[in-house]
Amino acid sequence: MARDRDVAAFDIRAPGYEAGWRGRLHHQIADRTADLALTLAPKPRRVLDVGCGTGYLLRRLGARCPDAVALAGIDAATAMISTAQALATDDRLRFLPGTAEDLPWSAQAFDLVVSTTSFDHWADQQAGLTQCARVLVPGGRLVLADLFSAWLAPTVIGSRRGKARTRGRATRMLTAAGFHDLQWHDRYAVIIGVVTARR
Ligand SMILES: C[S@@+](CC[C@H](N)C(=O)[O-])C[C@H]1O[C@@H](n2cnc3c(N)ncnc32)[C@H](O)[C@@H]1O
Repeated sequence: MARDRDVAAFDIRAPGYEAGWRGRLHHQIADRTADLALTLAPKPRRVLDVGCGTGYLLRRLGARCPDAVALAGIDAATAMISTAQALATDDRLRFLPGTAEDLPWSAQAFDLVVSTTSFDHWADQQAGLTQCARVLVPGGRLVLADLFSAWLAPTVIGSRRGKARTRGRATRMLTAAGFHDLQWHDRYAVIIGVVTARR
């Protein structure tokens, strides 16, 4: 994947990413995503966080999932991965640099895939979702939290051209990637939504 402006900006932000009001907002979204994920998949064994940033969500899931054997995070920004590695104290957590579009795991490696506020940055969202489906076991769960709102429709004809920022577009992409049983959840601020789906 070409290294884009979005990813370069996250390399700069990585050391202080969890601080301040933006850090608190990301923690809140991650906490709610963990609650929802564990409602749908109460005892995941193998978890992947795509666009994991500094690894907060995986740390939370690790603390709440004693039966999990592996919790993996991947992120396009190498400084995010270094920060995630430095903050992790649980041996089951593994972080590596890479992209959603080219996940380096074999098919059906995970039973839960999560992603928070990363999807909007993926250079090729359809390819990324197809990879998420590939690495999930049949019946495995995807929990995807990001900018999804009808209010954002005007932005996809501007700077975020082609991005799946509305439920309609995201639903079409998820379905094309092989997901089913899609459910939309309204538990975030107006423009942040979450969709859950089954492989
Ligand atoms: C707003 S941050 C979210 C980080 C974390 N998930 C959170 O909720 O705090 C977006 C992250 O997506 C990563 N990212 C951008 N494009 C990506 C891609 N194609 N594949 C994987 N990660 C990507 C960025 O490097 C950044 O760390």
